[in-house]
Amino acid sequence: MPKEATPKDTLTVTDNRTGKTYELPVENDTIRAMDLRQIKVKDDDFGMMSYDPAYKNTASTKSNITLINGGQGVLRYRGYPIEELAEKSSFLEVSYLLYNGELPTRSELEGFRYQITHHTMVHENIREFIDAFRYDAHPMGMLVSTVAALSTFYPDAKDVEDKHTRQLQMYRLMAKMPTLAAYAYRHRRGLPYVYPDNDLSYSGNFLSMLFKMTETKYTPKPAIEKALDVLFILHADHEQNCSATAMRGVGSSRVDPFSAAAAACAALYGPLHGGANEAVIRMLNEIGSVKAIPEYIKRVKNREVRLMGFGHRVYKNYDPRALIIKKLAYQVFDEVGKNPLIDIALELERIALEDEYFVSKKLYPNVDFYSGLIYQSMGLPMDLFPVLFAIGRTPGWLSQWEEMLTDNEQRIARPRQVYLGAGKREYVPISER
Ligand code: CMC
Repeated sequence: MPKEATPKDTLTVTDNRTGKTYELPVENDTIRAMDLRQIKVKDDDFGMMSYDPAYKNTASTKSNITLINGGQGVLRYRGYPIEELAEKSSFLEVSYLLYNGELPTRSELEGFRYQITHHTMVHENIREFIDAFRYDAHPMGMLVSTVAALSTFYPDAKDVEDKHTRQLQMYRLMAKMPTLAAYAYRHRRGLPYVYPDNDLSYSGNFLSMLFKMTETKYTPKPAIEKALDVLFILHADHEQNCSATAMRGVGSSRVDPFSAAAAACAALYGPLHGGANEAVIRMLNEIGSVKAIPEYIKRVKNREVRLMGFGHRVYKNYDPRALIIKKLAYQVFDEVGKNPLIDIALELERIALEDEYFVSKKLYPNVDFYSGLIYQSMGLPMDLFPVLFAIGRTPGWLSQWEEMLTDNEQRIARPRQVYLGAGKREYVPISER
């Protein structure tokens, strides 16, 4: 019988090029990439690196903010299950939780709400700046640019080492995102801008800035206001996704948070990240009827098209956010009437969840499968969908940024590369080429 080794928190690596063996510490099921550097063939070698395009298996940080268990379909913010937060909390409460690590007391929440409510105005120059965009400019392009422009209005934001300065910029960005988003929407529609209304909730004020016409005061429908708030909660953070990684990476140069958040917005703009909700609506429109679904599924299996709103890099189970959104859709339909596309979506989901192709690949509906249907029913145009995602994700970006800046192990983000290009070459003057 082989003698059982005593368990040890190390990994033994043998380099077969040299026959040398190394013992690397294991912490949290992880080895440190820098521990590989000692592995060399010759003393003057650079040392070994790990190669991981698209960071498929590299942890870039330790984090205390969000947990995703993709196999079990679990999502928690600071330990609290997303289902409970969506049911019992508000977006501002969740934002406080993400940024500070704890749920607020009643007075802490009041103070937070006061700060956010009293930073919603933007400088009139920003309004003029938005006016300068073409009449048909994409709202997300306008959002990326105006978030970046905020850095020119708040030079104090450059002092990123100061906790109080960081907190102030957090209030400012959280408060101004809905204003910028609504201004972009109104510009696109050729409608006059609506100033923030401090009597309304975060989501209620956003609806007012979007939809207020000639009435002296806009009164949001409670069911719509609540649904929007829940949608913001569901989008508030998703750990080290593409846009959060952009926020951390750009922020690691110690640039101000508005410039870093503009980079995060730009990352979200891409169709593989924040644009899928729009693609789902286009797909449902293309399918057109329940009858046409089997034919569409055939095309998916032939790899002609992808089933948009299905599949996820991390979730290999039902995305818990999709379950909540599906229920929410009916609450919104009760208020504004059923979106006819829901019948196609439900049947598509039913067929896909029973089909071996999707089952074997563990493809389940993700957050985007039903969210677009709700936004559409609220009367929002498709190109505003990623902007809504950006408003919801702002507390997540800011929390990830705060955590990065206060983490002693973090430095400027600067990956290595494996250079496979030409060796040293002799320059040939243009006359001889
Ligand atoms: N429809 C059909 N087949 C799919 C789909 C889909 N939606 N998604 C993945 N697959 C197949 C894919 O063809 C591949 O099959 P095979 O191994 O036979 O080649 C396998 O499943 C794995 O796919 P992958 O592209 O390697 O997976 P990934 O982790 O790189 O991509 C994804 C994840 C979300 C980009 C992808 O599932 C996808 O394109 N989904 C549709 C777009 C979408 O809904 N995006 C929203 C993501 S959630 C919001 C967010 O994060 O911003």
